[in-house]
Formats: sequence, C-alpha cells, structure tokens
Amino acid sequence: MQQKINQYTSEINDFQPKNAEEVEIFRIKFLGTKGIIKDLFEEFKTVSPEDKRLFGKVLNEFKQLAETKYQTLKEQVDSSGLSNENLNPDFTLPGEGFELGSRHPLSLVRKEIIEIFKKLGFNVAEGPEIEDDWHNFSALNFPEEHPARDMQDTFFIRSEKGDGEAYALRTHTSSVQVRMMEAGQPPFRAIMPGRVYRNEAISARAHCFFHQVEGLYIDENVSFSDLKQTLFYFVQELFGEGTKVRFRPSYFPFTEPSAEMDISCTICKGEGCQFCKYSGWVEILGCGMVDPNVLENCKIDSKKFTGYAFGMGIERITNLKYQIKDLRLFSENDVRFLKQFQSELI
Ligand code: DAH
Repeated sequence: MQQKINQYTSEINDFQPKNAEEVEIFRIKFLGTKGIIKDLFEEFKTVSPEDKRLFGKVLNEFKQLAETKYQTLKEQVDSSGLSNENLNPDFTLPGEGFELGSRHPLSLVRKEIIEIFKKLGFNVAEGPEIEDDWHNFSALNFPEEHPARDMQDTFFIRSEKGDGEAYALRTHTSSVQVRMMEAGQPPFRAIMPGRVYRNEAISARAHCFFHQVEGLYIDENVSFSDLKQTLFYFVQELFGEGTKVRFRPSYFPFTEPSAEMDISCTICKGEGCQFCKYSGWVEILGCGMVDPNVLENCKIDSKKFTGYAFGMGIERITNLKYQIKDLRLFSENDVRFLKQFQSELI
C-alpha cells in the first residue's frame, strides 16, 4: 500500500494537464466515487490494527494532496476563462495576429482627394468649426439679409466672451478661404477639408453635419480655364478616365461668375438611372472666380490678383464612389457597415 501511495504521489506531483478535460479525468481517477482514493480507503479496512495509525496518516495526507492539486488546477481553468484552452501553451505555435481595423469611408475619400490636389501643388489647410459672422458670411460677400444666414440653416452659438460678436458653427468650408487670404498675400493654392454644420432634419439625404473640401487658387492671371482644367483632371483621377464633366452657370455670393459642375453618372455611366434621376449627370461641386469684393475684404488687390475657388461635399462623392444611398450610415458607427472598407487602401 505504501508503495502504491508513493507511486500515485509522484504521478500527482508530475501531472500537467493540457486542457480542462484532462483535469476532469484526473478528478474522476483519484477523487471519483470509483476512484483510487476510494479504493485505498477500502484497502485500509484490511490493514492490521497496529499499522492503522501510521497508514491512516499517510492516506489522509495523500487524499489532501490529490484534493489540493485538483482545486488548484480547477481554479486555473476557471480563471483563464478558456475551459478547453491550453493550460500549458505551446510557444512554438504561430501567434494569432491582430485583426485589421478599417478606415472610415469618408476618411478614405478625403485622403484620395487630398492626394490628387497635392500632385497639382495644392497645400492642405484647416480652420475652426466655430466661426464668426465675418468669416462665414460677411467677408464672403453675403448680403445682410441673405437667406443662408437664416436661423433655419445656421446653428448659432451664444458667446460667453461678451464681445457682442455672433458665433455659429460654420455652414461651409469657404470660411477657411477668408482666414487664409487674411493671413498673407498671394499666391495661395490650397485645399481645405473639414466638417460643416447645418440646421437640417436628419434623413437619408440630409444631415445636420457633413464634410466639405474647399479649394482656392489666387495668383496673377488665374483664369476660368485654369479652374476647368484643374477640376477636369481631378475628376479623371478620382472617378477614372473617360468620366465626362459639364459646367452649368450658377450663383454664389463669393464667386463671379459662378458655376456648378456635374459629372457623368458613375453608376449608370450616363445611361440614366434612379441615382441621377435619369439625366445621366450628377452635380458634385460649386465653383467660380473669386469675387473681387471678397479679395478686397481680405486686403488683396483685386486689380492685380485673380483666382478661383470651389467647394465639394465629401459625402456626395463617397455616395458616388461606393454607392451608399443613406447619409446616416456615415455617423452611426455600425461595424457591419464600417468593416466593408477593411480592404481599402490605408
Ligand atoms: N460654399 C458652397 C456651399 O457650401 C460651396 C462652394 C461653391 C464653395 C462655390 C466655393 C465656390 O468655393 O466657389 O454650398
């Protein structure tokens, strides 16, 4: 009996289970109702009375050892939370690797737009999202009673500064043009990406915030044909060669003349579909020659310098590139949506 106990003792001490299953097998083998300890206690009954004292102690200590070992292993299994995972990991196995995150589709498109304009020598600039009336409206030649200043469109902010100035969340990135022109003298050649805000009810087609990229080029002898060529190049790079563009006359207070630019519908290739309302064209931006009043407001000599500006919505371009029909998807943070952009360029 002593010999058996010695043998089992070293078996228990050496025991190193690989998983929870082996721990359970251990329990059944030693501590189960038909287990070794039970058998040993049966055998103990046959021990001669003079040996009982000694063997009783040995047997109890052995039982203690088996129980403690089992308890320790059980705790290890439970705390690892991986009941069947390796308790003795094989360090030679390859690692699990990191799961790749994904960039937001709007970030992907913003980055692509920036890359294209960088190739043409445009810098990137940014401005504040909280703006004063001057930078968002007045300097840009918006008349005092212009409807865009309306409470319906603009989120106004109560200023704690006590300076009597009206602050608002910028309604467009054109405000950054003004900041750039005020800060120096031409030439300026920059694009200005950023978030803008409008007081709109949220739906599939409208949101209270969205993103724009503003463009500005001011120098001597900048003409409308420079603008057309730049935007034509941009569209070919972004949507692929063969994408058609057309300019329609339009009106913005800060440009004269002003235009809107359409591209041939990338979804139906100009054949006509629901997205382009069967016209074959979709509008992607507003543009024009910077109004001399705006230059003068920013202390730039409008006799010497001319320039063009343009502004586009990143959401709209992303809609076209990825055929996303509901604007709300961009801000809901639904991983099922975001995951789809995992394989896109980083
Ligand atoms: N700021 C205009 C808007 O939010 C877009 C725009 C139109 C920007 C014409 C320009 C421009 O720079 O020249 O709708």
